[in-house]
Amino acid sequence: MDETPVFDLQSFDPSGIAVVFGASGGIGSALVAALNDVDHFDAVIGLGRKSDPRFDLLEDAQMKQAVDFAAASGEIRLAIDATGFLHIGDDRPEKSWSELDRRSLEHAFAVNAIGPALLMKHLLPHLPRTGKSVFATLSARVGSVGDNRLGGWYGYRASKAALNQFVRTASIELTRRAPDALCVALHPGTVATDLSAPFAKTGLKVHTPAQAAGHLLGVVGNLTKGDTGQFFDWRGDPVPW
Ligand SMILES: NC(=O)c1ccc[n+]([C@@H]2O[C@H](COP(=O)([O-])OP(=O)(O)OC[C@H]3O[C@@H](n4cnc5c(N)ncnc54)[C@H](OP(=O)(O)O)[C@@H]3O)[C@@H](O)[C@H]2O)c1
Repeated sequence: MDETPVFDLQSFDPSGIAVVFGASGGIGSALVAALNDVDHFDAVIGLGRKSDPRFDLLEDAQMKQAVDFAAASGEIRLAIDATGFLHIGDDRPEKSWSELDRRSLEHAFAVNAIGPALLMKHLLPHLPRTGKSVFATLSARVGSVGDNRLGGWYGYRASKAALNQFVRTASIELTRRAPDALCVALHPGTVATDLSAPFAKTGLKVHTPAQAAGHLLGVVGNLTKGDTGQFFDWRGDPVPW
């Protein structure tokens, strides 16, 4: 495991707020902790299914209320969506097309693609028209079509690919409305959380949630205008679509 990375958020106006969606998750809670530690923004708001207001990707009206709450708390300079779904309980991602199941595919798309798309609908109009602001959603390298060499994990892969397309499409509209605002998809690397635990393999490079948070905040801190609509990994390198 590498050291917890140092990151720099000086590119963001500090008189704004940061919001993390999915603040109860492994990476989400580490992002909230890292943002609180660095104390760059006026406030850090963590939202999730256990926060008040509640934020559930499957509840459109609730999502809007939670976003409106955040927007009323200050100018949103950084918003990170750290929600996501890979498996529930003992269910495992599909290894073969024979395991494709309508309900679990619908759930993967609802949480990994449709929910974040509707979050963008509510949140992106709140990003300031001038000065850097970022909406970043956690995607996954396995959502890359160009990088798919192993197959399997149909629902997760396809729902993250759909998320990536939502990000790219929304980024184009966002630039027209708020030229300094960015909208990106990020791959956090393999991170030791509940989501990845059943798939831990020896020899695989695994980051702690605190390391992942530092990497991701480093990437968003370094983003510049031309980076909007892109898909980056935790090192800041572009991932093929
Ligand atoms: N860990 C990795 O190795 C890895 C690798 C690549 C990509 N990622 C991506 O990184 C993101 C975060 O993953 P993680 O590892 O931190 O997973 P995690 O610990 O399982 O966290 C997932 C988060 O998503 C939230 N969530 C799930 N369904 C939701 C819903 N309907 N409404 C609102 N929130 C919901 C969870 O909320 P509750 O606490 O309420 O369930 C939790 O906060 C995901 O998008 C994942 O695909 C992770």
